[in-house]
Order: sequence, then C-alpha cells, then structure tokens
Amino acid sequence: MDESLIKELIRKALDMRAFSYTPYSKFKVGAALLAKNGKIYTGCNIENAAYTPTNCAERTAFFKAVSEGVKEFKAIAIVGGPEDAAELEFCPPCGVCRQVMSEFCDNDFIVICAKSETEYRKYTLPESLPDRFGPNDLLS
Ligand code: THU
Repeated sequence: MDESLIKELIRKALDMRAFSYTPYSKFKVGAALLAKNGKIYTGCNIENAAYTPTNCAERTAFFKAVSEGVKEFKAIAIVGGPEDAAELEFCPPCGVCRQVMSEFCDNDFIVICAKSETEYRKYTLPESLPDRFGPNDLLS
C-alpha cells in the first residue's frame, strides 16, 4: 500500500478520537476504513451506560460504509488509548471487530495498528484472525 495513503488513514483515525463517546472507559479509539472505491469511512467508539451496547470504532466505520451500500474494502487504520495518554500504544482490534472484518473482507485486507503517522504495524486479515469463520462456511 502507498505510504502516503497509510499516513492519511492514520491521520483520519487519530482525528476521530476527538468524537469518541467514552464516559466510562475514557479509552478513545478512532478508525479509518478504506473502501475499494477509494472512499474512506471513519469511526469512533461509542459507549453506553448499559455497557454491552458499546460499539467499537472499527465497527462504527464498517457499519457507516455498509449502510451506504459499500461492502468491499482494502484496509483499516486503528488508533486508540486512554484519553489523557501523552503517547499512544498499539491498539489491536477486538475479536468482535475482527469477525465483522471477516464478513466483508478478503485475505488481502490490511489491518494497520498505529501509534502515530510514522509508527505502525500492518497485518493481513488472516494474520489478524486465523482460521476465520466467514460467509463461505455457510454455503456447503
Ligand atoms: N474499543 C474499540 O473501539 N475498538 C477495539 O477494537 C477495542 C476496544 C473500545 C471499546 C470501549 O469503548 C473501549 O475501547 C474500551 O474497551
């Protein structure tokens, strides 16, 4: 993937942390999802007083895209950490978000976990979620 595009995704994910609704965990996550059509869908985590309705940043981005008819994706950048952190650590996607990625993404989908625009790790979806259960498993 083009380095400048990776940086743009990370920058957009970082910007999204400002919109995270996190009165309970105070852990702010931002995501930027690149669709195959070139559009970027952003997301933040949205918490809830009942806790379990909380939606992660990654799923917010996916659901925004899918709800607009976009279902093919290339990559996602994810950044997260405590709201008062001076520097971010890597924030890997939770298992539920990996499963949502699995629903819509091919094996060449790239997961970018970043601390900053210059410090990031890249994984393919199968590296992130090996032996994944997906739509094809329901077909046989
Ligand atoms: N969170 C995400 O947004 N994405 C992840 O993949 C990990 C966890 C959020 C959920 C919750 O609002 C907070 O981080 C603490 O778990």
